[in-house]
Amino acid sequence: MKPDFRFLAASALLAVSAAAPATAQDAVAPELELRRIMRELNAGMQTVVDGISREDWALVAATAPKIANHREPEPAEKMKILAFIGAEIGEFKGRDEESHQAALAMEKAAQKRDGLAVVSSFGEVQKACLACHQTYRERFLAHFYSKH
Ligand code: HEC
Repeated sequence: MKPDFRFLAASALLAVSAAAPATAQDAVAPELELRRIMRELNAGMQTVVDGISREDWALVAATAPKIANHREPEPAEKMKILAFIGAEIGEFKGRDEESHQAALAMEKAAQKRDGLAVVSSFGEVQKACLACHQTYRERFLAHFYSKH
């Protein structure tokens, strides 16, 4: 019987990725603080989804400002990002501002316990997240982590 090379290649790949701990890759390309901030934003959005499902408007109202006023990377990292995106910094900040405004609208809607308005502003927040990701994420990955 012929050996199944595709299978062998696949299991070799699996073995390599299983053997390489995440930290080994981090040593090559340390994660940006921005990425950790993004994960915090994501966790906030998940909490909001949970709040919407339970009609827990107090939870949504408490979480939305954390999304709106997320922390920023340290100055040194900000400089690296600025050096990379250069003249587009205005657009980048504009995208961030859009998500900020949408999250504030979501907070207001939750304070009014207006479920439909919460859901629609949640969509606006997601649109703002997506717009920035579509424009910048791949370029950040390529530049800061050498991923193409
Ligand atoms: C101003 C631009 C911008 C906005 C707005 C933005 N992001 Fe991001 N996001 C990025 C960039 C750039 C990356 C890639 C960063 C990296 O991998 O280091 C990213 C990556 C992520 C990731 C992947 C993190 C990982 O583990 O690899 C998540 C999740 C994420 N963003 C969530 C969000 C959410 C949720 C919002 C909206 C509430 C949001 N982002 C808004 C620019 C933005």
